[in-house]
Amino acid sequence: MTRFVCQQCGYQNLKWLGRCPNCGGWGTLVEEKGSAKQKKSPAVQRPVSLQEIEQNVETRFKTGLSELDQVLGGGLVPGSLVLLGGDPGIGKSTLLLQVADYLAQNYGPVYYLSGEESNQQIKLRAERLGVSTPEIFLISETNLAAALEVLPEERPVLLVVDSIQTIFWPDLTSAPGSVSQVRECTVRLLEFAKKEGVCVILIGHVTKEGMLAGPRVLEHLVDTVLYFEGERGASFRILRAVKNRFGSTNEIGVFEMTSQGLRPVTNPSAFFLSEVTETVAGAVVCATIEGTRPILVEVQALVTRTPLATPRRTSVGFDPQRLAMLAAILEKKAGLSFYDQDIYLNVVGGLKLNEPGVDLAVVLALASSRLERGLPPKTVVFGEVGLTGEVRPVAMAENRLREAFRLGFHKACLPEGNRQNLPNKSPNKLVGVHNLQEALEEFVL
Ligand code: TYD
Ligand code: MG
Repeated sequence: MTRFVCQQCGYQNLKWLGRCPNCGGWGTLVEEKGSAKQKKSPAVQRPVSLQEIEQNVETRFKTGLSELDQVLGGGLVPGSLVLLGGDPGIGKSTLLLQVADYLAQNYGPVYYLSGEESNQQIKLRAERLGVSTPEIFLISETNLAAALEVLPEERPVLLVVDSIQTIFWPDLTSAPGSVSQVRECTVRLLEFAKKEGVCVILIGHVTKEGMLAGPRVLEHLVDTVLYFEGERGASFRILRAVKNRFGSTNEIGVFEMTSQGLRPVTNPSAFFLSEVTETVAGAVVCATIEGTRPILVEVQALVTRTPLATPRRTSVGFDPQRLAMLAAILEKKAGLSFYDQDIYLNVVGGLKLNEPGVDLAVVLALASSRLERGLPPKTVVFGEVGLTGEVRPVAMAENRLREAFRLGFHKACLPEGNRQNLPNKSPNKLVGVHNLQEALEEFVL
């Protein structure tokens, strides 16, 4: 049977359409001939009482990279299917080759199925990384059925598939990388993982538009979805769990790309803070939360007179809409004018912040640059700012403060609502504010 499948979102239609009614993409529907084979009905299972189910002790494979273990929730679970998505060239193959090396050395054989690179290319990368374990076996193949055939009786502990867009299942006639191929191959690999108890990691490329027949349509099939991201120029990479059946989501891991591969950054706060210790107008250190871990980052604002009729609002690492809103609040509540000023905002280190606790730091950075007055040294700021200028409490205040004091900060500006609930309220260190006027009076004016 022939169907037309949207290559962006997986929407199916019996007729061709110029525009996908589901995601609105133009020219994204492609004809795919599916196999008309009926699936066999599965063997009937008797319902089991929850009490009868025995809990087996969960074993997890450590990956040798502490940051990855943390994102996974303690390590790789045997029999699980993990999807690792990310831009081309970000370091997915590098990460998994390092993981393959550690698992092969400590747990058993690892198979690396590559439809993307030749064995020679992988060998070259392995040499660069200093990986030479004999227990890693390469399969250079794009036909998934054939690849699963050549796996020996003795099951590997890990199978890496690099990448899901390059392999195909021979029963389907559509091209590798199309939605139906990607989905079919994933379903087959899921069956393989569950039946054999082998951990399978899939690599999926993200395209500029989000995803071409890739990770998005697979997210519901797999156990864990990880995204690997980072700026092209910067050396650090962030690994994010978007879905995890074996741990919490929103957990992040930070890595640095070095000439010997990826290295976990166990102290990200120190990594993201600039070296400058004296105070500079427009620079504010914010204690933010990524997943469950506190990270200190520096927010920098530059406010300067504009020659333009419509002033510029440029923001890197922070939502531009929210920046415009915070500038408007400052204008209204603190009487600082921005209508004739260009605003540039930058989060140092290339981190992207989208957590409400960053608001107060942005507000103080704007005011500090506008008034050319720096904050007192070693001051950390966090809090959400509402439209009426009130400063609202945020989650995990204690963790944020602990991280800041650990790194040598000795003053904090935080929501009064948070300060009240702290066990140790020491007023000379902690300045609780109700609204942004109070924060400005205390630190900038
Ligand atoms: P790669 O893992 O091939 O990316 P992906 O599989 O996500 O497409 O990594 C590509 C980049 O990483 C490449 O530009 C070179 C760089 N790199 C290093 O900086 N150090 C290393 O040790 C390795 C192996 C790669
Ligand atoms: Mg690759």
